[in-house]
Amino acid sequence: MRYVTLADHALRPQQKDKIFEASSRAKAAIKELGEENVINSTLGECLDDEGRLMVLPLVEERIRSMSIEEMFSYAPIAGVQGFNKAVEVALFGDNNRGFVIEAVPTPGGCGALRHVVWNYLDMGEAVITTEFYWGPYKGICEEHGRKLETFSMFNSQGGFNLEALDEKMAEVAERQKQILLILNTPANNPTGYTMTPQEMAGVVELIRKYAKDEERKITLCLDVSYIDYDAEFEESRRIFDELTDMPENTMVTVIFSMSKSFTMCGLRCGAIVCLSPTEEAARCFKDAMTFSSRSTWSNVIRPAQKVLVDICLDEDLKREADSQREKFRQIITKRGHTFLEEAGRAGLACCPYKHGFFITVPYENADKLAQALQEEQVYVVPLVKGIRFSPCAVTEEKCRRAPGIIKRVMERLEGEA
Ligand SMILES: Cc1ncc(COP(=O)(O)O)c(C=O)c1O
Repeated sequence: MRYVTLADHALRPQQKDKIFEASSRAKAAIKELGEENVINSTLGECLDDEGRLMVLPLVEERIRSMSIEEMFSYAPIAGVQGFNKAVEVALFGDNNRGFVIEAVPTPGGCGALRHVVWNYLDMGEAVITTEFYWGPYKGICEEHGRKLETFSMFNSQGGFNLEALDEKMAEVAERQKQILLILNTPANNPTGYTMTPQEMAGVVELIRKYAKDEERKITLCLDVSYIDYDAEFEESRRIFDELTDMPENTMVTVIFSMSKSFTMCGLRCGAIVCLSPTEEAARCFKDAMTFSSRSTWSNVIRPAQKVLVDICLDEDLKREADSQREKFRQIITKRGHTFLEEAGRAGLACCPYKHGFFITVPYENADKLAQALQEEQVYVVPLVKGIRFSPCAVTEEKCRRAPGIIKRVMERLEGEA
């Protein structure tokens, strides 16, 4: 190819981004047919019933009133003053369970995932995650010379499949010294599943089992990007109770995102966090993460960090932000449960959903189903083994209408097969 001097590894097959492709089709259909006649359930941003982006008013106000210096000057690589404490408050409130917590800012949760995949595995090693996962996990692994391997997410009772995880860990442990397990809970993207504290305790048991080999290093990475859209604060944090007294050859890291909890998707801020039992291990974590930051994106957007600190370190502002977010949480929960109720009535099977932005309808030929749904003006995201519907972006009325249409189209496709 003339003028193409990309290195071999960069000449990879380019697949179209299915989410943005489906979304632009939906937008074109809305232009032609009108908003009320199209169900655009593709994107992961929260829209109100008028189709406007849902942004916490307090966050908007703090950004608009920020001084030029705060807005435009460089932030320290390890975060603006108070950043660490602010992340701790956002994640744990006033009960940090005795962990030594270090938080290094990253461009969104996505940047935090990058740091974990790069720093906790060696070249060619595999990350383990659930069979239903957020698509970019795979790309982040491949971009950094790692692989993504999955295990079946649900058992026959619709709970978290600890047996399948055990098998996958055994298989990976045969091949590599390090194990990195990424679990996206609560309110998993794309299923809306939330692991119970007992299931988290089961995961910890498995980590203990494989950590008996002292040569092995095991990292559990909890991607809690949707934690504030799950149950209420204390309930959604119960999973952290299970993570204490871990063996010395293990570490727990957390992906923190401001995109959902603080509605700042475009302001690209999050953090990679460690829940360390010791000061020494926390310091090592921080050194490795800040080196990685300096050598990739350098520092992270200052105004976003400042908003987090201002809100989380001021009790009144924190209360105000929490109560504004609570309204959003209730709207999304209501929409999700409306979809589920209607799915039940229509006989449409869904993956076990508890809370959050997304619901998955399992289906083998997901691309075909998503395509056929577009003819009915329903736009969804095809996954490997199902389609993703987004109650976060669709009115309650459309959440009520969609399951019947999906079921009808599925039956039609099955009739044609
Ligand atoms: C499961 C999951 N993890 C992490 C992220 C990262 O989001 P961001 O980089 O916007 O913080 C997302 C965003 O959609 C997500 O769905």
